[in-house]
Amino acid sequence: MPIISLLGNKGGAGKTTLAVNLAAALNQLGTTLLLDADPQQSSSQWRVLSSQPDTVPVFNASSSVAMSVGAQAKNYSHLLIDCPPSVHSDQTKDALRLSDWAIIPVLPSPLDLWASVKIEAEIDQAREKNPGLKALLVINQLEPRTRLSQAIRNATVELSTPTANTAIRRRVVYRSTVLEGRSVFDAGAKGAAAADELTELLTEIGITREQQ
Ligand SMILES: Nc1ncnc2c1ncn2[C@@H]1O[C@H](COP(=O)(O)OP(=O)(O)O)[C@@H](O)[C@H]1O
Ligand SMILES: [Mg+2]
Repeated sequence: MPIISLLGNKGGAGKTTLAVNLAAALNQLGTTLLLDADPQQSSSQWRVLSSQPDTVPVFNASSSVAMSVGAQAKNYSHLLIDCPPSVHSDQTKDALRLSDWAIIPVLPSPLDLWASVKIEAEIDQAREKNPGLKALLVINQLEPRTRLSQAIRNATVELSTPTANTAIRRRVVYRSTVLEGRSVFDAGAKGAAAADELTELLTEIGITREQQ
């Protein structure tokens, strides 16, 4: 049962957006729980907005990630953890200790990229207790035609954490669906390109439909 954490050192990078949409994708493959470890409870808010009974469940894990994982892991095929915007928080540290994958969304801006360098030290430290932890930077809100986006992609080569080949583009559908407690997978043709890139990202971390 893979445990995937969405983490980072900055608010606004896309942790919650990726958490809810990846949770929706995984929920199509097997029972999935989204653990909301951020005291701001944005993922939980998203779930409250959903009127669909089959929307992926969200569990408030902000008071203890370790206890929440311990209590819930056996009931689900996939767990996602939406972390607060600090890698030094207890929630993120616990999540790193328990996860198979650390997914770190970064905006295509130099400031965000530099902030992610600090994450690497925390990941290295977590690996002392959790040697199997794999980490991947994911460029989010990519605007492919801008020169800056290309420069950022080139700059990530200098970090020791690999960057996913799949970048998540800036798309209105990521914002509009969240407002209704839905995911891009519920948005039909409007969400198709976003759904494809998320599926591709999951394939990069070894989760494919064929495997299920
Ligand atoms: N790929 C994307 N395209 C368009 N808007 C996005 C995308 N990713 C995130 N956003 C928007 O950016 C803002 C911050 O994203 P959020 O997921 O809340 O970040 P975090 O959880 O890291 O603080 C939100 O308004 C969200 O709707
Ligand atoms: Mg968030």
